[in-house]
Amino acid sequence: MNNFDLQNPTKILFGKNQIANLSKEIPENAKILMLYGGGSIKKNGVYVQVIEALTNFDVIEFGGIPANPEYAVLMDALQVIKDENITYLLAVGGGSVIDGTKFLSAAALYEGKEPWDILVKNIRTLKGMPFGTVLTLPATGSEMNSGAVITKAETKEKFAMGGSGLFPQFSILDPEVIKSIPKRQIANGLADAFTHVLEQYMTYSVDAKLQDRFAESILQTILEVAPTILKDPSDYKAASNFMWSCTMALNGLIQKGVPSDWAIHMIGHELTALFGIDHACTLAIITESHYTYNLESKKEKLAQYAERVWNVTEGTIEEKALAGIKKTTEFFQSLGIKTTLSEYTDDYKGTAQIISKRFTDRGWKGLGEYGKVTPSDVEKIVEMSY
Ligand code: NZQ
Ligand code: ZN
Repeated sequence: MNNFDLQNPTKILFGKNQIANLSKEIPENAKILMLYGGGSIKKNGVYVQVIEALTNFDVIEFGGIPANPEYAVLMDALQVIKDENITYLLAVGGGSVIDGTKFLSAAALYEGKEPWDILVKNIRTLKGMPFGTVLTLPATGSEMNSGAVITKAETKEKFAMGGSGLFPQFSILDPEVIKSIPKRQIANGLADAFTHVLEQYMTYSVDAKLQDRFAESILQTILEVAPTILKDPSDYKAASNFMWSCTMALNGLIQKGVPSDWAIHMIGHELTALFGIDHACTLAIITESHYTYNLESKKEKLAQYAERVWNVTEGTIEEKALAGIKKTTEFFQSLGIKTTLSEYTDDYKGTAQIISKRFTDRGWKGLGEYGKVTPSDVEKIVEMSY
């Protein structure tokens, strides 16, 4: 096992009616900017619950943060923060609203001229404006981690940012919010969380037995609840297991002391930036080709995954590894997610070269757990996913 530091300061309030406890988590004299997305919270009762809980606070609202939070929209919100002397941010939404809020938390205290630099120059945020979240869509884990991903539509770019100053102070996780989520977004949440675990697990063994079993248990739980939650999002038992699995998949715990990969995400972000494909779907497109291309270095872990998560008992290490890859693709397809790029766009030819060139231009020499997946490897992986 590798050395590690572990500190996660986010307080979680989990369960039914927890939104009512919101007021206890925010300082009394706070001037709050409440941020939300395209309006789903106004239809499903979450908005009313939040407003009721904040009766005694000074609150300004900023709605309209789109999926794949857009820089230009966030810059409008930043202006409101400055004009209104906001002291506390409250995100009410899914990963996009929470990520947008993290960007604002960083940008509000940023002393440089151009906040986009936080993303392109990968400036870590050690102190941001304090914020909390009310999660409405289990998927990203953003509610309990310190990362965010922001899009600039103008240049078709999507970059990650983060830093220890960007953990939410608290997050409210009420599984009842899942009732109103469209099937497509539930499928996305399942696939995204599943891939988060894979990115931190499908590397090479450092004999971290507990981390491996944490990871496998999250994968197994997602597989177990997926059919139920897809069929009936108001099933509270399935909803609570789904929600907590998504949070645990990316709150830092399972990655401690082990190598991690993240190449699927780095390539996937480019597909969202170029074609607007949903984040989780981009992962489903890249996973099989990435694992097949890197079979040699990942086969032991792939075989362990096939055995322990999919009960594959027959065959050599390679055969088990390949069976594990196949099962993963079938799982994505069982959620209704398409797994090749050409199923999303007719304009796919040349994508591999564009992404590879972008990585070269950015000086990204090697991705993955060994840092050895070069832009030329990326080109081949993307080509395999057409
Ligand atoms: O905007 P509204 O109207 O709220 O509708 C949203 C949106 O259209 C809707 N929705 C959310 N909760 C709902 C609901 N509809 C009905 N009932 C509810 N309770 O769902 C749609 C998608 O929402 P979004 O927040 O975009 O989805 P998700 O949570 O999947 O977030 C995706 C973003 O997170 C980033 C992705 O790249 C993408 O930009 N990620 C963030 C990560 C992180 N911070 O750690 C890690 C991930 O790997 C990922 O990259
Ligand atoms: Zn993801």
